[in-house]
Amino acid sequence: MIIVKSKNELAIMQEAGRIVAGALEVVKNAVAPGITTAELDKLAKEYIISQGATPAFKGYQGYPANICTSVNDQVVHGIPGPIALKEGDIISVDIGAFYKGYCGDAARTYPVGKVSSEALDLIKVTKEAFFKGLEFARVGYRVSDISHAIQVYVEERGYSVVKALVGHGIGQEMHEEPQVPNFGPPGRGPRLREGMTLAIEPMVNQGTDQVRVLDDGWTVVTQDGSLSAHYEHTIAITRDQPLILTQGE
Ligand code: MF3
Ligand code: CO
Repeated sequence: MIIVKSKNELAIMQEAGRIVAGALEVVKNAVAPGITTAELDKLAKEYIISQGATPAFKGYQGYPANICTSVNDQVVHGIPGPIALKEGDIISVDIGAFYKGYCGDAARTYPVGKVSSEALDLIKVTKEAFFKGLEFARVGYRVSDISHAIQVYVEERGYSVVKALVGHGIGQEMHEEPQVPNFGPPGRGPRLREGMTLAIEPMVNQGTDQVRVLDDGWTVVTQDGSLSAHYEHTIAITRDQPLILTQGE
């Protein structure tokens, strides 16, 4: 069942989303050669708590950290630790927070210092794919119209979309119905209705779409070792334009 949110609930989700956006900004400003991903985790946690919110990932199905930090060929769910970032790395940062009982979830990929033009293009196309999908996040379309638009945009540019992981409904739970894949034929899945809230999150690889999970049980990496990027916002379906909830001020 897809849970439709009231105006009041959307206002709270927007507050949760602002906190997530603020935490991403704090991490973005700290990303540089030499900082460890554990230090980024601590900065995000402290910011989220300072805003009266709670990190959403910690303890989720046993997840051991506050945020996900996925470097280079790591797609998602990288666990922060004592490894320092290096010039030329790219890092995908995924942050969730609960505020007044509602969840916000967003992700970004950042360059570390100067990175290759190939890496910058991957990051750019991943972001653009999100906004291409967002064009279909409106009443009158179905969930897979978003999915299809993302896949076509990415594949036309020579990249692949990860299919083993999908976006999702979000609200009082981090993961609610419906699933929001980043691939598939258009015109399928539930019709979009005012008040639905979705986390749309393309994960885009330079090479194969195939992924595997490392022995830590969490970190998803590309099979071929190629780079991967991630871009996610929590959004609401409204009477007209979709509303991005995980937006700063
Ligand atoms: N943003 C991720 C998602 O959409 C968060 C899950 S990571 C976990 O599913 F650590 F919490 F498991
Ligand atoms: Co998500």
